[in-house]
Amino acid sequence: MLDLRFARAVPRSATVVAVAVARQTADAADVSDAADVSDAADELAELDVLGTLPTGTEPDELAAFLREVKHKGKAGSVHTWVRPLHPVTRLLLAGVANREEADWRSTGAALARKAKGEDRLTVLLPPDLTDPELRGLAEGLWLASYRFSLASDDDDSRKLRRVTLVAATALDAPLEAARTTASMVMLARDLTNTPSDRKTPEWLARQISREARTLTGVTVTVREPAQLVAEGFGGVLAVGGGSERGPRFVEISWRPRGAGRHVVLVGKGITFDTGGICIKGRDGMKLMRKDMGGAAAVAAATLAAAARKLPVRVTALLPLAENMLSGSAMRPGDVVRHYGGITTEVRNTDAEGRLVLADALQYAVRRLRPDVLVDLATLTGAQSVALGKRTAALYSDNEALADELRAAGTEAGERMWRLPLHDDYADALDGDDTDLVNSTEIGGGSIMAALFLREFTGDYRDRWAHVDMSAPAWSDKADGDLTKGATGWGVRTLVRWLETQASATA
Ligand code: BES
Ligand code: MN
Ligand code: ZN
Repeated sequence: MLDLRFARAVPRSATVVAVAVARQTADAADVSDAADVSDAADELAELDVLGTLPTGTEPDELAAFLREVKHKGKAGSVHTWVRPLHPVTRLLLAGVANREEADWRSTGAALARKAKGEDRLTVLLPPDLTDPELRGLAEGLWLASYRFSLASDDDDSRKLRRVTLVAATALDAPLEAARTTASMVMLARDLTNTPSDRKTPEWLARQISREARTLTGVTVTVREPAQLVAEGFGGVLAVGGGSERGPRFVEISWRPRGAGRHVVLVGKGITFDTGGICIKGRDGMKLMRKDMGGAAAVAAATLAAAARKLPVRVTALLPLAENMLSGSAMRPGDVVRHYGGITTEVRNTDAEGRLVLADALQYAVRRLRPDVLVDLATLTGAQSVALGKRTAALYSDNEALADELRAAGTEAGERMWRLPLHDDYADALDGDDTDLVNSTEIGGGSIMAALFLREFTGDYRDRWAHVDMSAPAWSDKADGDLTKGATGWGVRTLVRWLETQASATA
């Protein structure tokens, strides 16, 4: 992980220096006013590094740059001066359009990308930088410099290793919050990017247990197939039954002394989704190693709560299975008896996520009796049809809970949009000879999946939220703080939200 640290002054050896040009207020950002441009230039002139600016042209260049920041309103734009003959060979001027955490996160990400190929970067920060601003900047720097490679000729020698943050005071608390969050996002990305030949349910359970052992106060229990049979986890067993690599049910517990609330997080953990007997096509299947992104996110967020010693009790439940097709695979028409006894007719073996989540939700409701229950899942292709690539679907009958989660996501840089849980739609889920069917043909696929899950929340219906994160779990390209591939979506939102739960009363 990139080494980020504070310093009071620019190190003598610095060759690449970035200056964050932050606007004090929205009004002051009006760069059509020439006075503001010269103000900004004056401000820069006072900085030690200004000697590094080329003489003569800089006010125009600066004005043009500031105007761009203002008019395009685009956070994360960086202007570069190359000075081959100067000790500071590259000077980066980063515009922070509005002084909001999200802008600073974009700025951090943009700087990490601009500094690619450099060993070190120094960033000069405004004297009045706030805690959330620093947190955003640091998260951006870390998240954008993540990489994953299994290439035989992978060369990581030319990567950014250290960023020195020059600031009047060291903002250690937000830096640590950012460090933990970013490292856990990277854990989720690593697990999700890992190909499914390696990533069996057993492997995934072992990786998570290993990470948990590095933290104090976290316990992990892993149920193996025999145990799942004994306790009646019919959904997990049905979905995992087609694979030679058996399912697991992982329970992670962070139980600090004096915790207020108890939060249960459930994450879909399909290590590969072929669709089963209702097999997917080639295109629909090729990225299905990401189908455990929900499990990775809730595990990583729970470990983050432990690493930060947040005073909130968190239990993460990860039903892990590979949805394969074979002679032992579940068939359409089979009936699953879930944990707790609810029965479901399998209409489509590709609607497997809801079958494993159903067991976990019932386990949470019957055995754990938490204060609040949240699940994350790469549940439906319909989710991305509805909301596009970068927005998850949020469902809850509890307005306050939905607002809390959405607000946490906004701060964290992860967007959610609420979709409805219409009661009358749920009638289509009634089975002929069973309680439920796992798939319908009435459209609204993401909503129908959410309604199916709601049937398993018992008396927690009003204390439950579901997030369908199918689309944002993956990015086709590097984009801001996202790197190509797994995004680790959900970790940041959950960490923010858990911070607020720590101060809430049970
Ligand atoms: N894992 C998929 C959903 C998915 C699709 C996630 C694309 C990410 C990207 C899920 O198990 C699935 O196959 N859902 C079906 C449900 C249908 C059979 C009712 C779908 O969306 O087609
Ligand atoms: Mn599926
Ligand atoms: Zn799936």
